Amino acid sequence: MSEKLEDIARALVTPGKGILAADESTSTIKKRFDTINLTSTEDARRDYREMLFRATDAMKNYVSGVILYDETIRQNAKDGTPLVDIMKAAGSIPGIKVDLGAKPLAGPTAKIETITEGLDGLRERFAEYYKLGARFAKWRAVITIADGCPTWNCIKANAHALARYAALAQEANIVPIVEPEVLMDGAHASHDIDTCYRVTEWTLRTVFRELYDARVSLEGMVLKPNMIIAGQKCSKQASAAEVAEKTLKCLKETVPAAVPGIAFLSGGQSDEAATEHLSLMNAAGPLPWSLTFSYGRALQAAAIKAWGGKAENVAAGQRAFTHRAKMNGLAALGKWDQKLEKAA
Ligand code: 13P
Repeated sequence: MSEKLEDIARALVTPGKGILAADESTSTIKKRFDTINLTSTEDARRDYREMLFRATDAMKNYVSGVILYDETIRQNAKDGTPLVDIMKAAGSIPGIKVDLGAKPLAGPTAKIETITEGLDGLRERFAEYYKLGARFAKWRAVITIADGCPTWNCIKANAHALARYAALAQEANIVPIVEPEVLMDGAHASHDIDTCYRVTEWTLRTVFRELYDARVSLEGMVLKPNMIIAGQKCSKQASAAEVAEKTLKCLKETVPAAVPGIAFLSGGQSDEAATEHLSLMNAAGPLPWSLTFSYGRALQAAAIKAWGGKAENVAAGQRAFTHRAKMNGLAALGKWDQKLEKAA
């Protein structure tokens, strides 16, 4: 495969394929395993991720790349094969989460707002991750909508960190996934869809301004944004058509056409809503960029449940994962239909 940034970025957003976000930190994967009463040990995490990466139909046909956590990129499958080799054999590109998490942003909103950390030593970490096989990376910034939030200070600081990360990634010949997430869930999240639109527009404009200042090559990156959607606690939820329409409008206003692709996070949407929204947007094309998924929860929730942490359920877990990957692959082409969910 070509090692050029633009080629890797384009490969990540190949029509009909998207990204599996399997980069849950140790504390986040523990929360996922808690839902099936499974203790989160190193072996359990390995077994779970090995199950996903060995789902060959899903990995070959619908998954362009996988975002890994530091532990996983160094981990071997039960038979000793590096997990990275398993996904590469299925034609999927290994990626790595490099941020060290969202920490309270010092100042008057420290109880609500965060700044993503991890820039110190990142040049050296990128060099190591490249050797371990990573060809793309992810950094997630978090923007919270609440009373008086987000502040300009929070948006500016997070956008600046994203741009510094993206420039370091490209220097290391690694494609940066730039992820500014305006939250739809969590302790606040009672905002309506139009507030999400305004905050996302403000955020994306600031991010692209910072990327420009840092001379990040737009052709060699992928944007990972939230959709334009009401907060989970808002009593007025928008229709799927409105989510699709407002998301496309916001992205067209803010994302240059030089960006090869946009891969959404699922953010707390139900599995089917995340798929439906993506399909509606692609069906409304042609679009200036490729539009696909980089889902964590919306690709994995059904698989975790079907697996339940039991070796005898590996095939069932893989079936559930493959089904969601296929549905989202179709959505990336604008060809998903609700009837296909029942057929599974
Ligand atoms: P969700 O799809 O579960 O939001 O996760 C995507 C992700 O990688 C968040 O950083």
